[in-house]
Amino acid sequence: MTAAPRPWALLAELTHGCPLHCPYCSNPLELVRRSRELSTAEWTEVMRQAGELGVVHTHLSGGEPLLRGDLAGIVTAAESAGIYTQLVTSGVGLDGARLATLTAAGLRSVQLSLQHADPAASDRIAGHRSYAAKERAAALVRAAGLPLGINVVLHRDNLDALDAIIERGLDWGADRIELANTQFYGWALRNRDALLPTRDQLGRARDTVQRWRDRLGGATDLVWVVPDYFDGVAKPCMGGWGAVSLTVAPDGTVLPCPAAASLPDLDPPNVRDHPLEWIWDHSGAFNRYRGEDWMREPCRTCSRRAEDFGGCRCQAYALTGDAARTDPACALSPDHGVIRALTTDPGHPAGAGTPAPTGGYAYRKPGG
Ligand code: SF4
Ligand code: FES
Repeated sequence: MTAAPRPWALLAELTHGCPLHCPYCSNPLELVRRSRELSTAEWTEVMRQAGELGVVHTHLSGGEPLLRGDLAGIVTAAESAGIYTQLVTSGVGLDGARLATLTAAGLRSVQLSLQHADPAASDRIAGHRSYAAKERAAALVRAAGLPLGINVVLHRDNLDALDAIIERGLDWGADRIELANTQFYGWALRNRDALLPTRDQLGRARDTVQRWRDRLGGATDLVWVVPDYFDGVAKPCMGGWGAVSLTVAPDGTVLPCPAAASLPDLDPPNVRDHPLEWIWDHSGAFNRYRGEDWMREPCRTCSRRAEDFGGCRCQAYALTGDAARTDPACALSPDHGVIRALTTDPGHPAGAGTPAPTGGYAYRKPGG
């Protein structure tokens, strides 16, 4: 058996608690209760083992990681393990004193979410009055001299405001603006009818991004995360299953990707039961879709299989009930019709020329 590749990235979901209720949240419908979260000592041990395994970068995420009173201690543990830390936050709960403590502990950069350039629309999408806190947080991060990224999940409700969103990110001093089209798992899948954009919206948004890239000339990094329902191309999800990164959920469950908790027979391991190295190298969950042996046709003999790894296992499961099938986002998938129907049917919002009215979200909340 060839040795498993080493991971370099860790998504540390410190808590599923969050003051926001975004309808596209990538957290599972079944959120981990606060009482089941790993302790400070357990997260410290996770960071130590991750560093030994080769991890050099971690996103400290959630939920809202600022809800963890021991966040600075976890940052220190990562720093001691030689791991670069980026805080992924809504900005709610960040003040000058907190940021100073985190910076002193070794925090290297901050990624701030933004739902819309218009404060009322941003608060409506987040399901929480949070825009003002975000604006304050951005100013604090800049004043502290830390790199600032703005992360915007794009969907039908905000794609047409892309110019204003990019302007807002620049006003706030972002070094990098990530424009991430919604990926339909978890809460986003539940809210797909309200979030799925139209093809026309996406075309206009692509043009907008290109126009801004030409204007900025690389001074600010504009990242466009492609939507995967529209091009007939599967995305290389997670850089391959068990290839470059791992996710540790708030209760210590270790997953090859954040959405894999939805796969019914994966039996994911937990850091409370096994060392991270054993989990990465030997657990059934991490080996299930690693490499190419698990692939069926058309992926098994496809020339693109080393580039996209057959697409996303969680999407294959969500749309076909079988995680080992070709991702239906791929035009070569026998199941591609499921997606084509959603994006070309004029009776469906995504197939229509103009966006349907938005809203009517099932907001993320405990209890599904
Ligand atoms: Fe990728 Fe499989 Fe589609 Fe080929 S058939 S392009 S490997 S998803
Ligand atoms: Fe799980 Fe793509 S989100 S493999």
